[in-house]
Amino acid sequence: MNPGRGAERDYLCVDQYIADAVGARALSTAFEIGFIDDLVRHTSRSLPALAETARLDRRGAMLLADLLGAARVLDFVGDLVQLTPDFRRALQFRDLMEAKLDFAATVAPDFFDLFTTLLTDPPAFFRQAKLFDLFSYDRCIDSTPENRASTVRWMRFTTSLTKYESAACLLNHDFSVYRRMLDVGGNSGEFALRVCREHPGLRATVYDLPVVCEIGEKHVAEEPEAGRISFERAAPGNGRLPENHDLITFKSMLHDWPDEQMRSFLQRAYDALLPGGSLIIFERSVVDTGERQLAYGQIPIALFFRSYRVPGDYTTALRQAGFTQIACTKIDLDMPFMLVTATK
Ligand SMILES: C[S@@+](CC[C@H](N)C(=O)[O-])C[C@H]1O[C@@H](n2cnc3c(N)ncnc32)[C@H](O)[C@@H]1O
Repeated sequence: MNPGRGAERDYLCVDQYIADAVGARALSTAFEIGFIDDLVRHTSRSLPALAETARLDRRGAMLLADLLGAARVLDFVGDLVQLTPDFRRALQFRDLMEAKLDFAATVAPDFFDLFTTLLTDPPAFFRQAKLFDLFSYDRCIDSTPENRASTVRWMRFTTSLTKYESAACLLNHDFSVYRRMLDVGGNSGEFALRVCREHPGLRATVYDLPVVCEIGEKHVAEEPEAGRISFERAAPGNGRLPENHDLITFKSMLHDWPDEQMRSFLQRAYDALLPGGSLIIFERSVVDTGERQLAYGQIPIALFFRSYRVPGDYTTALRQAGFTQIACTKIDLDMPFMLVTATK
C-alpha cells in the first residue's frame, strides 16, 4: 500500500465540508447566494452587511451563519464573521467542492428514498434511481441540444474528480517512457491532459462516445496540450480499439461494465496495443467504510458499490487476455484505489 501522504492528496480537504447533509446543504446555499464570495472578498464582515449582500433577512443570515459555523466554514470573531483558515485553503479546490456538492445533492434522494430497493431489488433500483438517469450513455450517441446538455452535466463530475485524482496515478507510475497513449472511456480528455502536461513527449488519443468526444474537444481546446490530444468516436459494439499506441489506460472506466464486457475491453486492448506496450487500470477498489460512517459526500460513489472490484478480478482478466508482468499498487484517496499495470 502506498500511504500517499503528499500534496497529491491535498484536494481531499474538501470532503470535510461535504461530510454531513446539513452542513453541505448550507454550504451549497452559501455559494449560490454569494455569501461565500462576499467573505472571500472581505477578511471579515458583519452579519448585517453579509445579509444585505446576499439579500437575506437578519434571522435567515443568522441561521445560515450558525450552520456554516458548525460546519467549520466560518468563525465568529466578536460581532464579525470570517472564513476559517482551513476553509480558505480548501477554496483552491472550489471547482471540485461545488461539483461534489451538486453531485451529492443530485443523487442523495436515491439513497434516502431507495436504499431498501438498492439492497433488496437492484434491477428496480437501476430503473428508478436518478444516478443511472444522470449517467445515461444512450444520450451520448446523437448530438442533439438535449443530449449535449445532459452529457455536459455528468461530465462536470467525472472531469473534476479526474483533475485531482490523476496526480496520484502520475506519481505512482513512470509515464515518461511512452510516446502514444490511448485513454479508453477517456471522457473530457482530462486524464490525457494531465498526463500530457507532465510529459511533453507524449501524444494521446481519447476514445469515447460521440457526444462525450464533442464536449471533450471543447474542454481541452484552449489548453497548451490541445495539439497533442485527439478524440476518436467509439464505434458501437465490440470493434477494434484504435491501434499504434504503446500505452492504453482505463481510468475509472471498467467498473461500469459487467465481467464479460470488462474482459472484452481488456482483450481488445491487448489486440490493439503495440508489442511491448503497457496497460494501466486506475480504479476505485471495493467500497469499505471500515468502522467509519459513510460521509454524505461519498453517497454518489457508494451507490456504485456493486460495481467495484478487487485487484484480483482485473489481474486474472489481464492474464487471460495474454498480458504479463502484472502488478498492482493500492493508493489511498477518498476511497482505496488500485493502480494495475501490465505488459503485452
Ligand atoms: C465512469 S466514466 C469514466 C470517465 C473517465 N475515464 C474518468 O475517469 O472520469 C466511463 C466513461 O466511459 C465512456 N464509455 C461508455 N461506453 C463506452 C464505449 N463503448 N467505448 C468507449 N467509452 C465508453 C463514457 O462515456 C464515460 O466517459
